[in-house]
Amino acid sequence: MHVACIMDGNGRWAQRRQLPRTAGHTAGEENLAEVVRAAVRRDVDWLTVFGFSTENWIRPRREVRHILGLHRRLFGRVAELNELGVRVQWIGRPFDDPSARTPVFVQRAIEKAIADTRHNEKMTLTVAFDYGSRAEIVEAGRRALRSARPVTVDTLTSGMYQPDMPPVDVMVRTSGEHRVSNFLLWQANGAPTYYTDRAWPDFDANELDTAIALARTA
Ligand code: IPE
Ligand code: IPE
Ligand code: MG
Repeated sequence: MHVACIMDGNGRWAQRRQLPRTAGHTAGEENLAEVVRAAVRRDVDWLTVFGFSTENWIRPRREVRHILGLHRRLFGRVAELNELGVRVQWIGRPFDDPSARTPVFVQRAIEKAIADTRHNEKMTLTVAFDYGSRAEIVEAGRRALRSARPVTVDTLTSGMYQPDMPPVDVMVRTSGEHRVSNFLLWQANGAPTYYTDRAWPDFDANELDTAIALARTA
């Protein structure tokens, strides 16, 4: 079972509580740790989450800086992830791509988390950071052309950032926005989307069960 989540609504969650948006992102990162635990206890073997998009860099600098720090924290949860048997992966614009924007300190955290959790087999947690599905599909096309292979569904699939990723069984989007903003457009083809009005910091195990049930009946 592959569940993909667009973790939206952190800012609104905070604003409703008269808190700065950054507090919403902090709550969202903490909730992700809970959702990972809940997913491990269920039949989820792939969990892919949208942490930061190629479009999100235009946000205010303070907010971006805060979100970067939270990704360092997230990728730093190695002890916890090892205890759960979770292998970390990352998708996003490759660090050597001229358009890539992941700062070096986040790159290091990503590389370390991947290396230090690589033997875990219970679940794969893939974090999308500096990720855009359109950029990924364009890159897959370029890879096919560079290797002089024909451009087919199979060659494009094998040119995605993480070719081993299975198709998405259910897409989740929180916070009442009924759209799939540039997330796993190729991999989630044909999968149902579970839209919930709850903001990401309030997305819990019951919500996860509802999403999984939708995947099973689709
Ligand atoms: C999702 O929450 C987190 C990121 C996009 C980084 P938002 O920050 O988009 O929260 P809203 O949508 O403004 O409430
Ligand atoms: C989607 O949320 C991206 C992430 C959750 C990282 P946004 O809040 O950026 O999406 P739009 O622009 O409102 O669709
Ligand atoms: Mg949003």
